Amino acid sequence: MKNLINDICVLVKECGKVMLGADRERMAIDIKSGVTDLVTEYDTKIQAQLQVGLKSLLPEAMFIGEEGSDDQLTDDGYAFVVDPIDGTTNFIKDYHWSAISVALLKGREVVAGVVYNPYLDEAFSAIKGEGAFCNGKRISVSSQPIGKALVLFGSSPYDKGLFPKTIEVLSEYFYQALDIRRSGSAALDLCSVACGRADVYFELQVSPWDFAAGKLLVEEAGGVVTSLDGAPLSFEGQTSILAKNSVI
Ligand code: IPD
Ligand code: CA
Ligand code: CA
Repeated sequence: MKNLINDICVLVKECGKVMLGADRERMAIDIKSGVTDLVTEYDTKIQAQLQVGLKSLLPEAMFIGEEGSDDQLTDDGYAFVVDPIDGTTNFIKDYHWSAISVALLKGREVVAGVVYNPYLDEAFSAIKGEGAFCNGKRISVSSQPIGKALVLFGSSPYDKGLFPKTIEVLSEYFYQALDIRRSGSAALDLCSVACGRADVYFELQVSPWDFAAGKLLVEEAGGVVTSLDGAPLSFEGQTSILAKNSVI
């Protein structure tokens, strides 16, 4: 599994070069589920590159990517769950906070994950039972109580009807914590919790490719990841998410 993770790191770094070298002035941008849900030609291109690369690393694995694929999770087989660019709006705006996220599931359990931020050249990786790492150095969640916490949240931008509830939850955290932040990448929010730069992350609606790799990173770094009401996360569709250190 270690060799596989190393090979995935090489692959996502190649994809990171494609992100950094993108011709953002001229790139094609299409609308998906609504006017705020966008896809660029680079999301599609990187997903295709990942699909070919991951297939050659583990031919028997299914491939599930945000930008469409025919495969599905099976009860005990391997599946890659991939977000080619997490933080597409940031990418379009040249905000320099987006990542490539690759998780390997066996059945419904994440057994390995890599999240790569090409802007900082940071590769977060984890193998189930073997800890979490950033560029090869072991990472762990913070041990800060809520009063000293930095709370990250996602705004569930593709379903704006969820915003009042988001603000309600956020407001509760804001008055207890040090401060709040909205980054624009769920995968990187999870990495920030995993390495202790932040202490909590929540969002009312995310998809498996947003959180699959990041969930393992937080757990292997000693944190806890559930839905907002404390239930185990489902990989079957959209879900809420709450990730935190083990003190809060
Ligand atoms: C989105 C980002 C964003 C989060 C959304 C995600 P995308 O992913 O992670 O931070 O708030 O819920 O869908 O569309 O940029 O890959
Ligand atoms: Ca995403
Ligand atoms: Ca994406």
